[in-house]
Amino acid sequence: MLTAQKHFLTALQVTSQDDLTALFTTAKLLTPVANGTHITNILNGAVIASLFFEPSTRTRLSFETAALRLGAKTITVTGTDNVSITKGETYFDTARVISGYADCAVLRTNAPEITNDYVAGSTIPVLNAGSGADEHPTQALLDVYTAHAELENRGKTLNGATITMLGDLKHGRTVHSLIKLLRLYPNITLHLVAPAGLECPTNVIDIAKSAGHTVHVHTPETAYDAYKQSDVIYATRLQKERLSGDAANAAYPTQLRLDTDTLNAHAKPDVIILHPLPRDGREGSNDLPIPANDTRLCAFTQAHNGVPIRMALITRVFNLSDAQLTASITLPSWKST
Ligand code: NCD
Repeated sequence: MLTAQKHFLTALQVTSQDDLTALFTTAKLLTPVANGTHITNILNGAVIASLFFEPSTRTRLSFETAALRLGAKTITVTGTDNVSITKGETYFDTARVISGYADCAVLRTNAPEITNDYVAGSTIPVLNAGSGADEHPTQALLDVYTAHAELENRGKTLNGATITMLGDLKHGRTVHSLIKLLRLYPNITLHLVAPAGLECPTNVIDIAKSAGHTVHVHTPETAYDAYKQSDVIYATRLQKERLSGDAANAAYPTQLRLDTDTLNAHAKPDVIILHPLPRDGREGSNDLPIPANDTRLCAFTQAHNGVPIRMALITRVFNLSDAQLTASITLPSWKST
């Protein structure tokens, strides 16, 4: 699933459900290591560069945790203030330099062109951890992993599932990558609910249609019709940092406000609510204001699944087999209380 150059840049690089299933098997194998009940030092000596030129909490920390749990060491950049980009260095040159320090790079930028420039300069594998409003393929891997597991818990499957995606579908890169990955599953019905001006790009919708999925595009006025049919609702934040003027301060309309009352009234009782997080907890944002312990909300499990999934992806970069991983796993000499 990585390209010949070993980069992982788009969800389109995953070309079969078998590839995904194999990755999920590796992730399950590594879950006790991700949780800290077991340990491995299989990547002892490896260095992973974690380069987040845009803000991040869970993607950076889960990637770094994944690297550390595998026994690698990390070097990190956060933001653009303290690096030589401010001196006019190109991302190409920065990449060529970092290629001499690390064995693999995890990269987040605010534009796909910047990611492309970086990748062109890199001689080590690059894993795309977010390229502006375009893609976030490793998030899609953990989204599908979570949806798959949570549907199974409810006696359902992703094949033939009905999924609502809601919010800023124009700038929400996680949605774009998720729709691309879902092309590998049959008979999905997608409901896309977005405020005016924030609709999902046509080229992304076309990928779902080409996969044979049924796509319903909604305005907020028909959002409740979408919720009531859905097995999964994937909510997203208004990407204010990619908007300007009044649009950046607008709140979601009330039909997009998934609170306890709305879900009780308009969603299936066993609905799975996913959100890539962060949700905007500021007053009036209307971004999924339901309590963290609502059993329908799987967003925190989803965030935690980022560690085993990213561990599994890193093992692909280093060509480690499941057998090698299994043989390397031992018990720790410590226990966290
Ligand atoms: C998302 C992102 O960065 O695109 N967050 C994440 O990585 N889990 C979603 C967002 O910021 O809204």
